[in-house]
Amino acid sequence: MKRDPYLLTPGPITTSMETKQAMLHDWGSWDSDFNAITTEVRQRLLAEANATSSHECVPIQGSGTFAVEATLATVIPADGKVLILMNGAYGQRMGKICDYLGRNYVTLDKGDYLPPLPHEVKSFLQDDPDITHVAVVHCETSSGILNPVEDIARVVDQAGRSLIIDSMSAFGALPIDAQKLKFDALVSSANKCFEGVPGFGYALIRQEVLAQAGGNAHSLSMDLYDQWQYMERTGQWRYTPPTHIVAAFLAALHEHEAEGGSRGRLARYSSNCNRLVSGMRARGFQTLLEERWLSPIIVTFLSPDHPRFEFKRFYNLLKERGFIIYPGKLTEADSFRIGCIGRLFGTQIDELLDVIDEVLELMNIQLEAQALLT
Ligand SMILES: Cc1ncc(COP(=O)(O)O)c(C=O)c1O
Repeated sequence: MKRDPYLLTPGPITTSMETKQAMLHDWGSWDSDFNAITTEVRQRLLAEANATSSHECVPIQGSGTFAVEATLATVIPADGKVLILMNGAYGQRMGKICDYLGRNYVTLDKGDYLPPLPHEVKSFLQDDPDITHVAVVHCETSSGILNPVEDIARVVDQAGRSLIIDSMSAFGALPIDAQKLKFDALVSSANKCFEGVPGFGYALIRQEVLAQAGGNAHSLSMDLYDQWQYMERTGQWRYTPPTHIVAAFLAALHEHEAEGGSRGRLARYSSNCNRLVSGMRARGFQTLLEERWLSPIIVTFLSPDHPRFEFKRFYNLLKERGFIIYPGKLTEADSFRIGCIGRLFGTQIDELLDVIDEVLELMNIQLEAQALLT
């Protein structure tokens, strides 16, 4: 069988054979066997964040955006006001969600490639006592920037406000300890660093916050309070669950544990990332971000300023050779992205770099090697 292309993207990502095989069974959504899978998934996610004693895990059908929307809708009351920290597409999307939800919000927008800084958040909160919540993206996947969520969480806690983290592309690789990093809600989805397949997301929500969240949501399907209540009462999902995807996710969680949890996974992704970045720089590509903000999740490379470089052709030639990369998502610079997450190892990164050599030669492009930044 011709192999599937490797997905060097922010998700869906390349999954293991075990995870794919776990989908070869049919499950009754009411059945106790499937309910046991759901329970185990919820427990494992809480344990991974050291949040078993303080938070609840509420899954929801749909992509990551559905989970972000459901969380904002459930956690922020109608009279709340949220400070959204923006530095890319996913922070902007939270703003759009709040527009739809009719939630009052203000933004601290740092553009494409700079992080929101704790002292900036602090002065925002000092100046506006009406702000009840702060929403931040952990790894802003549109550039790959790793935002300083630990320091931001400290400032938000000191100011007595509630923190919501979109950790879609970080949880599962960047270790989270809910007892040290204080958050009221953290959102992620199945198809990122836990290496499941797409189809549901989930939020870890502080128990007291969730218990008081009844009536906040504008929409029945998006109401995580109602989903949680129903799950607690029956062990089942409200409405048809993505059964195969949840079963695959449990298989993926077992693999995650076998790899040493988030720390083990972070080690592999970091090694993928270092290999990729040094290989790309040696070939003349430049990263968008300064070294200290690079994440081991996904890396944005600036499109080379060369008359024969055309992203679409570059992409297609890589695809023909079995590697799918990702277009850029920046407002200012012409760029493309290469992911380090998913079931990929050093061998695949080396293969990709070899293929890039071949493709650059075909495109008749020679670039000057970039100096390693320190
Ligand atoms: C940080 C972040 N938030 C939200 C999303 C949206 O997730 P989805 O595309 O699954 O709706 C993504 C997707 O990559 C993301 O990286």
